[in-house]
Amino acid sequence: MSARSRDLARRSCLSVPGSSERFLEKAPSIPADMVFLDLEDSVAPLEKEAARSKVVNAIKSYDWGDKVLCVRVNAWDTRWTYGDVIEVVSNAGSRLDEVMLPKVCSAAEVVALDLLLTQVEANCGLERNHIGIEAQIETVTGLINVEEICAASPRLETIVFGPADFAASMEMPVLTGGVQIPEYPGDHFHYVFSKILMAGRANGLQVIDGPFLKIRDLDALRDYCQRTKTLGYDGKWALHPDQVRVINEVYTPTQEQFDNAWAILDAYALATERERKGAVMFGEEMIDEASRKMAVKFVSRGERAGMQRSARES
Ligand code: GLV
Ligand code: MG
Repeated sequence: MSARSRDLARRSCLSVPGSSERFLEKAPSIPADMVFLDLEDSVAPLEKEAARSKVVNAIKSYDWGDKVLCVRVNAWDTRWTYGDVIEVVSNAGSRLDEVMLPKVCSAAEVVALDLLLTQVEANCGLERNHIGIEAQIETVTGLINVEEICAASPRLETIVFGPADFAASMEMPVLTGGVQIPEYPGDHFHYVFSKILMAGRANGLQVIDGPFLKIRDLDALRDYCQRTKTLGYDGKWALHPDQVRVINEVYTPTQEQFDNAWAILDAYALATERERKGAVMFGEEMIDEASRKMAVKFVSRGERAGMQRSARES
């Protein structure tokens, strides 16, 4: 369902351990835009193979509604990747939207997954490119190669930052991933966030921030989300259902912003189409074609989240 899910909202992306039948059963009822059933780091090595059939069973047995549904396979530097892909896609590929590939270091790793998916799709009667790819950037090599990675396959829908593995790969002296470091004067990930965002946008991908590990501290989560939301990210991972509500709220425009964006589009259309002017005053500010482009992004993000314009006074 690559075509189906490419433009769907991914404000909140819920991680569900593939080895836990209890969590798998609960996941469809949690109001996350996207859910990924994990075969990677939240599953113990001794449970890796058994988790595949639990994930297949969950995909087939539960009603996932309109959610973007993804499975995170193990990275290519393990012995599980091909087995994960073949077992999950062959047995549950028709409802599956995407496969997430962790610790991507090069474009070749994405190409290898694309080729494997093409064979599996052909063998189990799925349309070519039915399964999309999410690539995680969470190693220094991955970040260096992020531009080629984002351009590596038409299956790519999303590029995702993995702060915990990235901190380990950088050898940062921290023990909690994805949280603010008070001793650092500024944002220690600002360059990383921006680099990934630019590479993703240049290739038409959605761009997602990874986990915030202090799962009980919702105020700190809300505060931290502002960073990537303000830069332009589409959403963030949730490790716990309580994080989903906060993340959905932060990555949705406010009604006022949404209505204002629509008003800019109306004013600009009037100016250019009726008055033949390229730049006009809108309240206290000047708007032009660049303002239209910014407003369009707000409107499409809001519409993707199901927002509607407030009724206008006539
Ligand atoms: C996510 O996979 C991370 O490493 O932060
Ligand atoms: Mg990781």
